[in-house]
Amino acid sequence: MKIVETKKAAREIIRKWKRRGLRIGLVPTMGYFHEGHLSLMDKCHELADKVAVSLFVNPAQFAPNEDLSSYPRDRERDLALADRHNVDLVFIPGDKEMYAPGHKTWVTVEGLTSEMCGRSRPTHFCGVATVVTKLFNIITPDVAVFGEKDFQQLQVIRRMTHDLDMPVEIVGHPIVREPDGLAMSSRNSYLSKEERRSALCLSQALDLAEHLVKQQGIRNCSDLRQALAEKIEAFPFAGIDYIFTGDPETLESQDTINNKLLVALAVFVGATRLIDNRVITLEADTK
Ligand code: PAJ
Repeated sequence: MKIVETKKAAREIIRKWKRRGLRIGLVPTMGYFHEGHLSLMDKCHELADKVAVSLFVNPAQFAPNEDLSSYPRDRERDLALADRHNVDLVFIPGDKEMYAPGHKTWVTVEGLTSEMCGRSRPTHFCGVATVVTKLFNIITPDVAVFGEKDFQQLQVIRRMTHDLDMPVEIVGHPIVREPDGLAMSSRNSYLSKEERRSALCLSQALDLAEHLVKQQGIRNCSDLRQALAEKIEAFPFAGIDYIFTGDPETLESQDTINNKLLVALAVFVGATRLIDNRVITLEADTK
């Protein structure tokens, strides 16, 4: 496994691979790997001849009051895990390598970023879209794999690559969960023992949403959100940031449920903000 810290070194390796006609895959990450990240690397091997992973805690996607300085990091463990998953190249740049002094260019995706996490974190997706654009320009992947855990991020990246004619295929990969249902996240490491129990409010609320829609026949989104809010608020330490119900493609909110509904949640468990989501499909209605 090759480990490089500069764009120049990364480009040299990629150039050699491209000259051999190899297909390049990229998994962008902020590190502190868990099974979710590792599943993206495994998926990427199915889609490409060489798998590159970027490991960069991107300051541009954190607001000043957020957890940039405390974001968990463990470079050696991450490199060992990447190696075990047969990653071919890890690009691990420093802040100055990615954002040289005088950086003035930002990528903004409109519309899709106005609701959900975009509402609570107004500068977040501009930081994500910009860094992902830079990573695509440095690694020039044929394919890039993103987790559905960050559903809005995945749709923003899809829109951006389509709108800006970026020659890269975007592949989404399902959410990897702990055995009790908690979606894996680097931020789960912030949770105390008691908070960890309460963190189940997200996946359990999504189970409830699915039950209410599929078994109880709820079709009114406001009723659905109300039921989910009551479920979440019954857990200690849980404070709702948002409960979103809407169209999985356009990310526009919906009043009534048609055949596909995205339910997305952001909940503070203590001081830790966690997200989760599920797309509920009413297959019987589409036939
Ligand atoms: P990070 O949070 O490290 O996540 C890297 C990738 O792993 C993302 O595509 C994310 O959706 C995916 N992922 C995280 N948890 C997952 C889980 N439980 N199951 C499946 N996939 C999961 O997302 C980012 O970093 C950054 O915003 C980034 C795209 C790297 C830009 O800085």
